[in-house]
Amino acid sequence: MSRSTLLSVLANGDFHSGQALADLLGVSRTAVWKQLNLLAAEFELEVESRRGKGYRIPGGIDLLDPAQVKGALNSAAQRLLGRLEILETIDSTNAQVMRRAEQGAAAGLVCSAEQQTAGRGRQGRRWVSPYASNLYLSVLWDFSQGAAALEGLSLAVGVAVARALQNCGLIDIQLKWPNDVLHRNAKLGGILLEMQGDVAGPCRVVVGIGLNVAMPAAAGDSIDQAWTDIATLSEGEPPCRSALLAAVLNELLPLLAAFEQRGFRPWRTQWQALDALADAAVSLAGPTSLVGIARGVDERGALLLDTGTGIQVVHGGEISLRRVP
Ligand code: BTN
Repeated sequence: MSRSTLLSVLANGDFHSGQALADLLGVSRTAVWKQLNLLAAEFELEVESRRGKGYRIPGGIDLLDPAQVKGALNSAAQRLLGRLEILETIDSTNAQVMRRAEQGAAAGLVCSAEQQTAGRGRQGRRWVSPYASNLYLSVLWDFSQGAAALEGLSLAVGVAVARALQNCGLIDIQLKWPNDVLHRNAKLGGILLEMQGDVAGPCRVVVGIGLNVAMPAAAGDSIDQAWTDIATLSEGEPPCRSALLAAVLNELLPLLAAFEQRGFRPWRTQWQALDALADAAVSLAGPTSLVGIARGVDERGALLLDTGTGIQVVHGGEISLRRVP
């Protein structure tokens, strides 16, 4: 029996009789009941069963729809998109695109999933990735001039994500160096770039983006920092995830196509306008710890930290930046 068929039928939130589901899938009603119990446990979904009516998922689920995503792409994104893969469950979309890159997949591959079982965050952290609730996507892109040409790319990706959210009507989106997406100091999303190939020559980059759309409370409880989601920002009525995915690709794919030629410079002004920590007292935790006033970024995306004795230029890496209370 196809689990995804069962989920897509129940996605509308209406009741469906056990017999109708059994007929649709060509299995017994008992098999439907067993499968629904398994799905409910695996995906932490509430499946309601009511005598005489059948089964439903209260409120429905917002499943990703590849046709809807493609239909909402602008002409530039349509031209730049290679293949769009929408998966049900995967360890990590970044890991998946890395594997596909090793197998020779073409640049422009976009992979998104309903759920990640081992979503990767920065600094070895786990990215909480419950089923059909948030957006998890990874894009494969090729660069010919090595790692140096990629400086500032993750910041520029942040600008693309912020613009996509603004295009969906969301306001007060900000960025925190190096690549957190925030709303009023609560984390809304994150960006993780991974690289394959030659640091001095041709390389393949996986751009991973996670956005909290409608985080279930139980999953949110396991996040160890202030967070928010798009549902909260849009008073419980977030745009559907397919529309959000298309909005991100509409900004991201043209940026990736232009970045190697143009670098971070054209994105700097926009990044600074979105800077959540502009002129704030901050502390940096990393290989070296530093305190100072954040003074934006330079043309390569490095943080400019005013330490009182001069401006220290801090390049990205395994560093985290915090506002000093
Ligand atoms: C961060 O820690 O802020 C970065 C989080 C990046 C999460 C995204 S979700 C899609 C892609 N796949 C992953 O495993 N991680 C990234």
